[in-house]
Amino acid sequence: MATDNAGEAVTDGLKLVGFNNFVRTNPKSDRFNVKRFHHVEFWSTDATNVARRFSWGLGMPIVAKSDLSTGNYIHASYLLRSGNLNFVFSAPYSTTISDSTATTTAAIPTFDAATCNSFTASHGIAVRAVAVEVDDAEAAFNTSVEHGAKPVSKPILLDNRVTLSEINLYGDVVLRYISYANPIHVSDPNPSNWFLPGFEAETSYPDLDYGIRNLDHAVGNVPDLSAAVNYVKSFTGFHEFAEFTADDIGTSESGLNSLVLANNTETVLLPMNEPVYGTKRKSQIQTYLEHNEGAGLQHLALTSEDIFKTLKEMRKRSYIGGFEFMPSPPPTYYANLKNRAGDVLSDEQIKECEKLGILVDRDDQGTLLQIFTKPLGDRPTVFIEIIQRVGCLLKDEEGKVYQKGGCGGFGKGNFSELFKSIEEYEKTLEAKRVAA
Ligand SMILES: [Fe+2]
Repeated sequence: MATDNAGEAVTDGLKLVGFNNFVRTNPKSDRFNVKRFHHVEFWSTDATNVARRFSWGLGMPIVAKSDLSTGNYIHASYLLRSGNLNFVFSAPYSTTISDSTATTTAAIPTFDAATCNSFTASHGIAVRAVAVEVDDAEAAFNTSVEHGAKPVSKPILLDNRVTLSEINLYGDVVLRYISYANPIHVSDPNPSNWFLPGFEAETSYPDLDYGIRNLDHAVGNVPDLSAAVNYVKSFTGFHEFAEFTADDIGTSESGLNSLVLANNTETVLLPMNEPVYGTKRKSQIQTYLEHNEGAGLQHLALTSEDIFKTLKEMRKRSYIGGFEFMPSPPPTYYANLKNRAGDVLSDEQIKECEKLGILVDRDDQGTLLQIFTKPLGDRPTVFIEIIQRVGCLLKDEEGKVYQKGGCGGFGKGNFSELFKSIEEYEKTLEAKRVAA
């Protein structure tokens, strides 16, 4: 990273704003230490096809597997990895076969075929688990349950070194705690060490990389925001992230209320949305709740180290096995962008944003570049957001520069743009339904 004489840093063609020491309220109230997002698991009825589609669409190579070829007769699971982001895609095998084996061969010990089958029948392709790494998955589970969390899977010790437990997050989605007895070496080539015992390295797939690096936030849609927030807050101790605490985000236009919960280090961000009723058009959160048959995970925001590169690669594949994006905002949006973000983005970069349909927003600390895919599967439910955060650079105790969590916000100022594009998309669906 280069630094110019004004103390501002430049990386990957994006000019970063200077250090900002503005401190938001952070009571550091976690009940147990939550280190980071560890992985996200999707359930479907065919993991092979879904994993390959996501691998190609997002530029995340399939790096490990646990399936029939590794001796797993319960579920097929494929692990995709790009930077620190891990996605797992799982599906059940025949219950006639799995029920006939005396001992479980499942690599994910909490996997249950009947639960997965009813989950996919109810939700389609959807996120089953948001996993976070904690110091001790047994203690995290016990503390959570003591503070009102609904238990899903009691702690299980795997291979005497990995502990896994699950509690209910919202709907049928679980918050999975995972802990390791020994520090994991990220460079360890064996996924059985750095991920879960029973996963074997997969080396046949191409080494795709479009620049995606981290999970920034995982958002849930719920029917009742205050009940959901109070529930998660009470057993995790997470605090309300300042941006959405005091104000409502343009209810009449967006049709939702939203609030972000964060851990002590603000690296695990869990926003939640609820629908708002009585608006001109039905809230898209309500549409989600109907199509998903209840609460569930709405979107995953993935951080790119170079959003222009990521978008170029993803858009190339939109119609050949990848993901499509929501319609881009009108040209007037980009005409105004110079006034809104001309101090952070060059004219060239603003042009690039327009070409790729990237939205830009800011908060009091930094700038957010964001774009949303269309729904990932058949139903208008789960989707992905690609983001790059610019600014909010701080120094830790050792003098190492890091970026503050949630820098640039979550696109509050873009909500009206997002909902305009979602509503336009929904109108086209409605027109088809009327015509049919
Ligand atoms: Fe988001």
